[in-house]
Amino acid sequence: MSIDKINNYAKDHSCSETKLLSELRRETELKCINPIMLSGEYQGRLLSLISKIKQPKKILEIGTFTGYATLCLAEGLETSGKIYTIDKNEELIKIQNKYFLKSKYHKNIIQYTGDALEIIPKINSKFDLIFLDADKENYIKYLEIIIPKLNKKGILISDNVLWHGKVLSNKNNQDKVTKRIDTFNKNLVENNNFQTFMLPIRDGLSISIKL
Ligand SMILES: C[S@@+](CC[C@H](N)C(=O)[O-])C[C@H]1O[C@@H](n2cnc3c(N)ncnc32)[C@H](O)[C@@H]1O
Repeated sequence: MSIDKINNYAKDHSCSETKLLSELRRETELKCINPIMLSGEYQGRLLSLISKIKQPKKILEIGTFTGYATLCLAEGLETSGKIYTIDKNEELIKIQNKYFLKSKYHKNIIQYTGDALEIIPKINSKFDLIFLDADKENYIKYLEIIIPKLNKKGILISDNVLWHGKVLSNKNNQDKVTKRIDTFNKNLVENNNFQTFMLPIRDGLSISIKL
């Protein structure tokens, strides 16, 4: 049985995205460079489910892009909860705002524009859930700055940890980003602050709980 058939069966038997998320996904595909960066329906539903199980008061998303995962994660927030989301690309603000304002979560979303590595240390808050999905070459640095920002029993979700399968390639031929993601994966699984489980869905998603 091919892995594609199994993946399609799993998708067909998983819940569906909302109409608003479908519109956002389509507009992103039509108007944005690299629409593949968006989490997508299948991964988005998993993010929503994890958030609903956790029922966080505060979420931090590193790498907003067009806001698809922001809205998926917001589905699990407590009524007065907040999701802080950061992206350095100013050109994305228009599309983010269009969909955030249309959603019932617009009052729960706090947007930042700029370099997340500079912004995160200035946010005077701790989080119950963090979604790491920005510049992959800096994942190791992000890990250092987010550990003190994550509450005990808080959840860290790290995206693109398989990096298109390149983390499996010969170490001598790995490019800089692949090497760094591979090191991040090792650091995370060996880190005593976390219990980590890597899911080989989409481009690889690691789910860690802070002990
Ligand atoms: C993979 S996309 C995020 C996708 C989004 N989380 C989703 O699931 O739909 C990565 C985003 O990170 C942003 N980014 C890259 N480096 C960054 C940095 N240092 N600070 C803030 N944002 C950054 C990019 O502009 C891009 O929009």
